[in-house]
Amino acid sequence: MSVKHILIFDSGVGGLSIFEEIIKKMDQLNCYYLSDNAYFPYGELKEDVLIQRLLLLLSDFIKKYPVDLIVIACNSASTVALQALRENFDIPIVGVVPAIKPACQLTKNNIIGLIATPATIAREYTSLLIHKFASQKKVLSLASTALVKLSERKLSVQSINECVLQQQLRAIFKEWLILPVRPDILVLGCTHFPLLKQEIKTCFGGNIKLVDSGEAIAKRVQQLLPVSGLKKESQHHAFYTKKNRQQCALEHAFKIRKFISFSLFIAS
Ligand code: DGL
Repeated sequence: MSVKHILIFDSGVGGLSIFEEIIKKMDQLNCYYLSDNAYFPYGELKEDVLIQRLLLLLSDFIKKYPVDLIVIACNSASTVALQALRENFDIPIVGVVPAIKPACQLTKNNIIGLIATPATIAREYTSLLIHKFASQKKVLSLASTALVKLSERKLSVQSINECVLQQQLRAIFKEWLILPVRPDILVLGCTHFPLLKQEIKTCFGGNIKLVDSGEAIAKRVQQLLPVSGLKKESQHHAFYTKKNRQQCALEHAFKIRKFISFSLFIAS
């Protein structure tokens, strides 16, 4: 059986949280990772701009680097563009959307906190998910681009001091931290946020549970793309769409995850 190639796509480093879950289950895959940092943050883009950008960039990319499957490792993109992408590409496309359903099964106090980008919080898709699975629960929503940027910073070589990071988290979550009864489950509705899982847990203290979609996405990829045969050394390549200082500072985050290259990809 030939080696399978997949593309993991996000606006930035968030898709690495999905990459890690996929690689845990399927260490024979070869991954391309594309971060569209030229248009970052996706959580603040208009819907039509985002859809057009995704169609153009992804079709250019897979012409040059053909793949067996694409993972849109971004809630902000998946909640608006999956249908358009599936209509335009004839390979399987797996999207990532907030894990509202599992959160409903786990909550004990019936209060769920959804943290996501401004775009994901505002999407009709997200309201429908809440309506379908959580109509009997109380769902508090928090939109934060600051948290997305903090995740990028954590992975960059400059990193961020733990005390400063906790201070910033307390500012982001201040409205929830002062509630007399807080949510007992937080849904990490942006792929950047699992990169800060431990820090978010520390910020809330106690028994707060965090749920994300990473493992479910990895299972879905495994179903769609069964890989068997002898184990070979995987070859992962990362690309970005704009060269700047912040992007260069992220190279080591890819290197330590065994990406063997990190280079610029320019769409036509
Ligand atoms: N990681 C992305 C998401 O899941 C996008 C973050 C952003 O670029 O705003 O929504």
